[in-house]
Amino acid sequence: MKVGNINKIAVMGAGDMGHGIAEVALLAGYKVTVRDIEQRLVDRGLSRIKESLGKLLEKQKITDENKRTMLANIETFVDIGESVTDVDLVIEAVPEIMDLKRQVFQAVDAAAPSHAILATNTSNMSVTDIASATKRPGQVVGMHFFNPAVLMKLVEVIKGEKTSEETMQLTYDLALKMNKVPVRVEKDSIGFVYNRVNAPTAILLRQIVEKGIAAPEEIDARMKKVGMPMGPYELMDYVGLDVAYYGALYFADRLSSEYQPASWLKAKIDAGELGKKTGKGIYDWSKGRPEIDLSKAKEDFDPTVLIAIQVNEATKLLEEGVVKSADEIDKAMVNGGGAGFGPFQLARGIGYDKLAKICEDLAQQYGVTVFKPTETLKQGNI
Ligand code: CAA
Repeated sequence: MKVGNINKIAVMGAGDMGHGIAEVALLAGYKVTVRDIEQRLVDRGLSRIKESLGKLLEKQKITDENKRTMLANIETFVDIGESVTDVDLVIEAVPEIMDLKRQVFQAVDAAAPSHAILATNTSNMSVTDIASATKRPGQVVGMHFFNPAVLMKLVEVIKGEKTSEETMQLTYDLALKMNKVPVRVEKDSIGFVYNRVNAPTAILLRQIVEKGIAAPEEIDARMKKVGMPMGPYELMDYVGLDVAYYGALYFADRLSSEYQPASWLKAKIDAGELGKKTGKGIYDWSKGRPEIDLSKAKEDFDPTVLIAIQVNEATKLLEEGVVKSADEIDKAMVNGGGAGFGPFQLARGIGYDKLAKICEDLAQQYGVTVFKPTETLKQGNI
């Protein structure tokens, strides 16, 4: 199958990512079905799509007629089988719990047409493990969007062990048709590119709170003052503390126990304080986006430490052959979030030896092996 044969796309899950992905598919002119486990969740997803299309209309990015056509192109379901009977591609965006994802893939595989491609929007998890719940692993692929899906340009296209080249190419072409910037992830590796490069940052952010080095707002204010659109803790709330928590558990299980989530994060999950989506997380979101008080910035926090551990982790992706080049990593990092430059572009300006020294010091100060500089970082010249 080629991308031109795709007419109808199903999205499993109408939450933060699901509704956004469905909207992206509608904007690209596709017919779309959206499915969630309860009618009220489906309705909420639909109203969020309408709200976001309303913003685009206000800014004259779409016309009133475009909006009407898109709303006529969407159908909603609670029954999983009914939602996929006549679709050409399915994108799963259910919570980051492997058993749940496998159950959804099994059900979708049983009901979707045999030609349909099944994509997962998993943030971190093995595409190969998800694909093994189906009888068509060659047609299963990772298609990882970033939050908010309608604005963020990156789509990671991830090759599972059995994903065919035809499926990879089709998914890549589909991302282009959706006006996104696709990056090929050649190896099914935890966290893929964007989340893997950012993962050690979460270890540092956890330690900063646990050791009382700074409060979240002090770090967020500092990072906003140096030009980040959101501080790192605010971003955790924005994406969802549940996503951060389950991601950390998965990293801890598969990569290093140092990724184990903080006890304060677990307490927030247990209390149902998941961030923006529940109105409370690290910040209070009940009245909208929190106001970060820039006067609280921790001025002696050096943002270069975050760059150093990101560049270091990025070199691991090169060593492991997860992506083809440093440029591809930079492309992913610039288009997945609000950063103006990729880690290697920054590293060339700062100097690899300086970054390696920072990583060495951080590894010692916090007793974290993940921060240790790689040989590639120490050698530089990337
Ligand atoms: N639909 C349509 N328009 C939207 C929108 C939506 N869902 N959300 C925001 N906008 C629009 C706003 O209306 C606003 O428009 P104007 O400038 O015309 O007023 C514009 O986008 C900017 O929004 P805000 O003024 O509210 O705030 P902002 O300037 O900070 O931008 C943001 C918001 C684009 C989200 C920006 O803060 C940002 O880039 N944040 C970083 C996001 C990020 O890093 N995402 C990646 C997360 S990691 C991930 O997703 C991976 C994973 O696997 C978990």
